[in-house]
Amino acid sequence: MKGIIFTEFLDLVEDKFGLEMVDKIINSSNLESGGIYTSVGTYKFSEMLQLLQHLSANTDISIDDLLLVYAEHFFGIIETSYPGLLATYSDPIEMLSSIENHIHVEVRKIYPDAELPTFEVLEKTDDNLVMIYKSSRAMHHFGLGLMNKTFEHFNSKASIVLEKLKEDGTEVKFVINKNL
Ligand code: HEM
Repeated sequence: MKGIIFTEFLDLVEDKFGLEMVDKIINSSNLESGGIYTSVGTYKFSEMLQLLQHLSANTDISIDDLLLVYAEHFFGIIETSYPGLLATYSDPIEMLSSIENHIHVEVRKIYPDAELPTFEVLEKTDDNLVMIYKSSRAMHHFGLGLMNKTFEHFNSKASIVLEKLKEDGTEVKFVINKNL
């Protein structure tokens, strides 16, 4: 997992819960990196999982809710860091249906060792999109947060329903209906 995911996460934890919480979750985790991350480095996903588990235990917020809020924050980073990629699109459904064959393809060019999910489009109309998310990392709520912000970015609204196809969240169906 790329370092930028860790550095932005710890910045947000500091912002919302204070530096003591950052120290607490780092110290209670068993981290090969020692909790020192650079944005261009690559680290084990298990480190992120431990940080999330300890933050969840200390805040009583579920890991899914933490990932959702984190993704909504991370979209802001995407907007500032990759404005060109977003400018390719004028419609949220077009953008979301292009994660697999365009957006993450470009991400892979920038970060060859990125660990990305797959999104398979099952149905697509002007206002509806059905996709299957697959990833061993089960970060579907990170996806949900990015999708929420994608609609906001285009001044649009949607209802998004998740259906777990596997109990462990490694396969999830997203049913997306645009409202405006
Ligand atoms: C992961 C970039 C748009 C879904 C990632 C990672 C990066 C990235 C850098 C982390 C890879 C790693 O740590 O190894 C981007 C950029 C985007 C974009 C630059 C837009 C320009 C989206 C959108 C979605 C999405 C719109 C919507 C669903 C995900 C998910 C992950 C991920 C769910 C977590 C990894 C996993 O589940 O296995 N993306 N992304 N991305 N991205 Fe994107």
